[in-house]
Amino acid sequence: MTGIRFLVLGSAAGGGLPQWNCNCSNCSAARRPSSGLRPQTQSSLAVSVDGQNWAIFNASPDIRQQIQQTPQLHPRELRDSPIKSVVITNGDVDHIGGLLTIRESQRFDLFTTSAIETVLVQNPVFRVLNPLFVSRKVIRINDAFSPLDGLEARIFAVPGKVALYMEEGEPELGVEGEQTVGIEFAIRDKRAYYIPGCATLPMWLAERVRGADLVFFDGTMFTDDEMIRVGAGTKTALRMGHMPISGEGGSLEALAALEISQLVYVHINNTNPIWRRGPERRLVEAAGFLVGRDGMEIILD
Ligand code: MLT
Ligand code: MN
Ligand code: ZN
Repeated sequence: MTGIRFLVLGSAAGGGLPQWNCNCSNCSAARRPSSGLRPQTQSSLAVSVDGQNWAIFNASPDIRQQIQQTPQLHPRELRDSPIKSVVITNGDVDHIGGLLTIRESQRFDLFTTSAIETVLVQNPVFRVLNPLFVSRKVIRINDAFSPLDGLEARIFAVPGKVALYMEEGEPELGVEGEQTVGIEFAIRDKRAYYIPGCATLPMWLAERVRGADLVFFDGTMFTDDEMIRVGAGTKTALRMGHMPISGEGGSLEALAALEISQLVYVHINNTNPIWRRGPERRLVEAAGFLVGRDGMEIILD
């Protein structure tokens, strides 16, 4: 097999759809099979170059269910996993919680920045990942690394903030460092990106993704004040470290100008109206963009 496969394991942001304690119109619809809105799990992407071995980008708290609903990730021997590596893009619970699930003495490589490695070291519960089996590999911003044989990737800093539970007072927003990173994949003449959290799209980042073959991008909220409007919270998207899709300074307008062949919104919050048919989703689709969903597969060859 040639090419590179991207499989959306989880398209929803932290909390998932429905979120356990939310009864907003989307969450309530997702609990009713007749609504047509299927439940969606938390943020994760699987990537393979041979269809046999997989790298997982972000270990969602839903990883057990994601593996269960993805036959490609089932064990093929008594004790086995096609998951050869896990790469973490930030330290939020939706991206590291699943590490506690995949702890059963199974070999894999765990790639993180040193800032995220520090978070894991400071939380002793992650010692359940036995170092005899899990090799932790600290990767530096912009260094190439190989999460799978035949797959070259690179991490780069994107504007973000520290993980929610690391906040002390008002966090610095839009920091470009090791807390929040994007992933660049290069295979022959193709370029793809995975950027599930991003606070702004500065010129350098726009230029980096310009002309890409595929971009998975932060689609957390449609409008900056969505949580407030829905009555589900008090924080804006920007305060949470996520640029909204719509409006001035939104990702839709900025990304639409960049000649990206395929753009998929992922890490979509349960309050986001793009989950359902309506003017907001139509706007996204009119730009030629896709709304991610669990099980969506895109192959670049
Ligand atoms: C986020 O992306 O903003 C976080 O996942 C929030 C959280 O951890 O609940
Ligand atoms: Mn998140
Ligand atoms: Zn909800």
